[in-house]
Amino acid sequence: MQIKSAKFYISSQKEKDCPKTIMPEYAFIGRSNVGKSSLINMITNQKKLAKTSSTPGKTQLINHFLINNSWYIVDLPGYGYAKTSKSNKKHFQKSITEYFKKRRQLVSAFILIDIRHSPLKIDLEFILWLATNKIPFSIIFTKTDKISKIEIDNKLLNYKKELEKDWEILPDFFISSSKKYTGKEDILNYIDKINQSII
Ligand code: GTP
Ligand code: MG
Repeated sequence: MQIKSAKFYISSQKEKDCPKTIMPEYAFIGRSNVGKSSLINMITNQKKLAKTSSTPGKTQLINHFLINNSWYIVDLPGYGYAKTSKSNKKHFQKSITEYFKKRRQLVSAFILIDIRHSPLKIDLEFILWLATNKIPFSIIFTKTDKISKIEIDNKLLNYKKELEKDWEILPDFFISSSKKYTGKEDILNYIDKINQSII
């Protein structure tokens, strides 16, 4: 799929403020600093569409980007940002869970996971939560430029082993690097396939 246009559409604090249009959307979620906003810029060929930062906690709202005037990419705040205050954390958590539970236009979520880490409780719990709430998702491993190919394979194997403990069928997964521009085609083709079946 070619991205012909990608425009910032709206930032919302809560699910109820999100666009009322009925276009399908794909949400990018994961731990703070995992590379959600960078990945969105990479796949849309734009440098500053989504705001990125080396300091965790940059994205604080639900951000809709309109793609090819027919579907949305949604950039969400990260979870697990230790430095934010407790009440702030609760507020984030609530706005994210509400978004996932209520947003009818959400077709599928991408959970981003930093390839360098061993499976983390917070990610495994979030995966379980999505599945329990019947929200379709796939996994994107990020920052693959930071380790060797052999290490990538090892980390993937580890992750699959961990998921196999809970799941008979594993979710689809992608590997990406926003720095090296890898993973873009696979992710866009995946979205395109779903869009073709529903738009
Ligand atoms: P929050 O909005 O704070 O939750 O973070 P985020 O998940 O949107 O992460 P963001 O895209 O802002 O990136 C965080 C940091 O990781 C930035 O310093 C990016 O430059 C860096 N980064 C993101 N993706 C990659 C990647 O693929 N490779 C490398 N080497 N660095 C990356
Ligand atoms: Mg962000």
